[in-house]
Amino acid sequence: MTYASTERLTALLGTRHPIIQDGMGPFRTNAIAIAVSKAGGLGTVSIPGMTKPPVEGKATMKDFLLEVATEHTGPFAVNVPVGRDAEGRVLSSTEAYISALIESREESDAVRTAVTTIITSAGFPGEFREAIKASGVTHIHKVGSTRHAIKAEQAGVDAVIASGYEMGGHTHAHPVHTFVLAPNVTEAVSIPVIVSGGVRDGRTMAAALALGASGVAMGTRFIATEENVDWHPAYAREVLAMTEGGDTTFPAIYGPARGLANEGVRELLEIVAEDRMTGDELSRWKDARIISAQETGDTVRGIMPMGQVASGIHSIVSIGTFIEEMAAEARRILGA
Ligand SMILES: Cc1cc2nc3c(=O)[nH]c(=O)nc-3n(C[C@H](O)[C@H](O)[C@H](O)COP(=O)(O)O)c2cc1C
Repeated sequence: MTYASTERLTALLGTRHPIIQDGMGPFRTNAIAIAVSKAGGLGTVSIPGMTKPPVEGKATMKDFLLEVATEHTGPFAVNVPVGRDAEGRVLSSTEAYISALIESREESDAVRTAVTTIITSAGFPGEFREAIKASGVTHIHKVGSTRHAIKAEQAGVDAVIASGYEMGGHTHAHPVHTFVLAPNVTEAVSIPVIVSGGVRDGRTMAAALALGASGVAMGTRFIATEENVDWHPAYAREVLAMTEGGDTTFPAIYGPARGLANEGVRELLEIVAEDRMTGDELSRWKDARIISAQETGDTVRGIMPMGQVASGIHSIVSIGTFIEEMAAEARRILGA
């Protein structure tokens, strides 16, 4: 496997580098997304929460899309989790966010030019596949198992993100870690595979490419960056301070999520154990606690999704130089 195998992905995305900043809701990642896209990667606009009333969420998402497209020509992606309720019905937020993308691209030339990819996650995007295809955007779907990667390829998506269990944020019901998942998926599908979960530099990127990936995606690494001005700096400080074993998983909207083991998570587990809230109440409580950590820096009672990779992240970097150096390091290692 050589660095040349990344060209399939960069051609598909229209980027200089096969490096993606993955979605990190439920607050906002516009500043990170703009910096990543300016640096030649693919920046992703995140959802403003799955628990916001759909009309409000849709309006906020449209503002986000216009904001990034006004700031830079892209390319950008938008992340939309395909959440389902207890009866298996798609959450109305999913429909609201997908229609926000489709309508914004129809209404604004700038958005149509800049926002060219959707990254669906969390659940099977099958029922949205035709609408996404008709809208003309590139469709990437994030999976945590080989079975789901094959299913996504069969549904016609353009690429998959294979994300290992060590990832930050919503992770998977059946734990398969990146080093096992990545080669399993690259052997099983013929569409480009992007690896995520534990990626943080040129060495981890070269390892992913050696396992057959066409590129990498990261969440946690991008939190601790100079350009992440949307978030309170205390969040990035916690990423730098986290050591191995400092994370935990906890119940979230669609399966487990991974984050810092802190007072906020302890409170969450207590609420669940004592059955003090309905599922909807708990989801709203969690979103509010995540936003309080991201927006106002409440690192004690806030909920702080982050991946195990935080244990290997020790500095705040500038996205512009970081992406160039990461790609150069991966090239060097692979002899490209
Ligand atoms: C703070 C945070 C919020 C996240 N929110 C989302 C989200 O809204 N949608 C989603 O698909 N994934 C979400 N994720 C997962 C990331 O998109 C990505 O898959 C993950 O961070 C990759 O693993 P890494 O943290 O080891 O880089 C989130 C991750 C973090 C750290």
